[in-house]
Amino acid sequence: MIEHVHRLDIATYFTRDEGSTARPPELGDDDLRSLYGYPARLDRPWVRVNFVSSIDGAVTVEGASAGLGTPADKRVFAVLRELADVVVVGAGTARTENYGGARTDPDLARRRVVAGLSEVPPIAVVTASGRVDPTSRLLTDTVVPPLVLTSARADSDNLGRLHTAGARVEVVSDGDVTGQAVVAALQRRGLRRVLCEGGPGLFGTLTADGVVDELCLTTSPQLVAGAAGRIAISPGAHPTPMTRAHVLGDDDGTLLTRWVRRGE
Ligand SMILES: NC(=O)c1ccc[n+]([C@@H]2O[C@H](COP(=O)([O-])OP(=O)(O)OC[C@H]3O[C@@H](n4cnc5c(N)ncnc54)[C@H](OP(=O)(O)O)[C@@H]3O)[C@@H](O)[C@H]2O)c1
Repeated sequence: MIEHVHRLDIATYFTRDEGSTARPPELGDDDLRSLYGYPARLDRPWVRVNFVSSIDGAVTVEGASAGLGTPADKRVFAVLRELADVVVVGAGTARTENYGGARTDPDLARRRVVAGLSEVPPIAVVTASGRVDPTSRLLTDTVVPPLVLTSARADSDNLGRLHTAGARVEVVSDGDVTGQAVVAALQRRGLRRVLCEGGPGLFGTLTADGVVDELCLTTSPQLVAGAAGRIAISPGAHPTPMTRAHVLGDDDGTLLTRWVRRGE
């Protein structure tokens, strides 16, 4: 007997048919900022992770996440960046997606300052090898210097080149960078509203190390099949119970879910 299946009554819509009263009101940007607000008065980094996947779990289409994005996902992606002190990303994603610095404009910078944030969140790249190109957009297309969190195993010559190119390089571990080392490095810099944009390798480490507080997951309304991986990869399984904070829906079928670690 199935006892616990019930219809979600918390779906909220981004858009509304003219004249319809049957649907909840459309969400504006202020609503989204409120729905995705970080806990107030953090005394430690709060690690939020954001991903988009297909319905069948693919994290990429032809090697990149762009093919999964939808208008609602892009809107929430921007809101999440607006609310963050720092955007953390694995070097694999920075390389594949050709990461540059976070975009800004005067209104966005002003809203951030009013909210007690810096004008632009820096990108923090996690790399064991130090293999981040000093001529990449991370260094050349940014208004704030990136942070490179790395290991004593990294190529020291390249770390020197990254430093010369303007990166703030910090060796935070002897081997692979642990979730705890990432969190401690961000805490030392007072960066507590953490937004991790992946990729699956880094998310796997953060989950395995028990430092993920929250996952924002967009389900893109499509099947993809193929050989794409899933959103988290680690050598072993680390079940981490989460509770559902909200589910938002857009008319195109996009689902935006927010999950918080149980007990938070
Ligand atoms: N759908 C989405 O929302 C989404 C989001 C992000 C990424 N992606 C996709 O995911 C793919 C990249 O996957 P990926 O697993 O390679 O991503 P990743 O986790 O960003 O990159 C793995 C690399 O990051 C560094 N790294 C990650 N965790 C580390 C740790 N604990 N310690 C030290 N270094 C660490 C290492 O770099 P070094 O090799 O330099 O040591 C490692 O090789 C891309 O195709 C990208 O498009 C999709």
